[in-house]
Amino acid sequence: MSEVAVITGGGSGLGRSAAQKLAEKGINIVVVDVNEDGGHGTVDLVKESGSDAIFIKADVSKAEEVKHYVDKAVEKYGTIDYFFNNAGISGSGKYFLESDIEEINKIVEINMLGALYGMRFVAEVMVKNGGGSIVNMSSSAGVIGQSTVVTYSATKHGIVGMTKSMVAEYAKDGLRVNAVAPGGTETPMVEKYFTDNPQMKEMAEQGIPQKRLGTPEEVAELVTFLLTSGAEYINGEVIRIDGGFTSTK
Ligand SMILES: NC(=O)c1ccc[n+]([C@@H]2O[C@H](COP(=O)([O-])OP(=O)(O)OC[C@H]3O[C@@H](n4cnc5c(N)ncnc54)[C@H](O)[C@@H]3O)[C@@H](O)[C@H]2O)c1
Repeated sequence: MSEVAVITGGGSGLGRSAAQKLAEKGINIVVVDVNEDGGHGTVDLVKESGSDAIFIKADVSKAEEVKHYVDKAVEKYGTIDYFFNNAGISGSGKYFLESDIEEINKIVEINMLGALYGMRFVAEVMVKNGGGSIVNMSSSAGVIGQSTVVTYSATKHGIVGMTKSMVAEYAKDGLRVNAVAPGGTETPMVEKYFTDNPQMKEMAEQGIPQKRLGTPEEVAELVTFLLTSGAEYINGEVIRIDGGFTSTK
């Protein structure tokens, strides 16, 4: 039977790209997103490559919706082998003392609680079925401090902590949990930011030793490697993929 990957935030950007890369390996994909058009679009792309896929609409910040997407995935495919715990939002770019409590709560709920809820219910299935592999989505802002992203950075550092501590508890049960920490990568999330703040793109590129943003395909390659069998002895690791950006900080 084919293997199964669940991808949150699978309707766009890094989630979609990983869905396509995993599907090329014959893995069936459960696309989870709040955005129905994006989710269905990814399902169509996966099917073009010959793998099967379903879309489940869910807001990852709602525990009951997370439980629902996990139950649906198991109902459809019997188990979950791989989980790309990826859904997330960026902030408004305001300085912390100018950001309102509503924004702080929203970023924490989606990026941090959403990731915790996902691991809570997916890892339960994996451990019960003898193991599995999880990649959590951190960020450069999860490994260094940066201006205008205090709350986002708090959640992405939190991702690093939950990744390492899950390994301490469940590696013995066959679970591998790693994180990726991309720098600026050309996805709709980032394109929107640079359209709103055009002068920022050149500045961002100049600050990267390789002088360019990353591509979703490059991140998808790393996620696929970490999730699947090539990385069988890599556990609790946080891999930076940022053109050297954080190594110079
Ligand atoms: N693009 C970058 O430069 C970059 C760098 C580092 C980390 N990241 C992280 O990568 C992840 C994906 O970002 P992206 O750049 O692909 O962004 P994106 O906006 O292109 O895709 C994010 C997807 O997540 C979905 N989503 C948002 N809130 C959700 C919720 N509550 N429940 C379910 N789905 C939800 C969106 O609908 C969208 O389809 C995020 O966690 C982001 O923080 C991105």
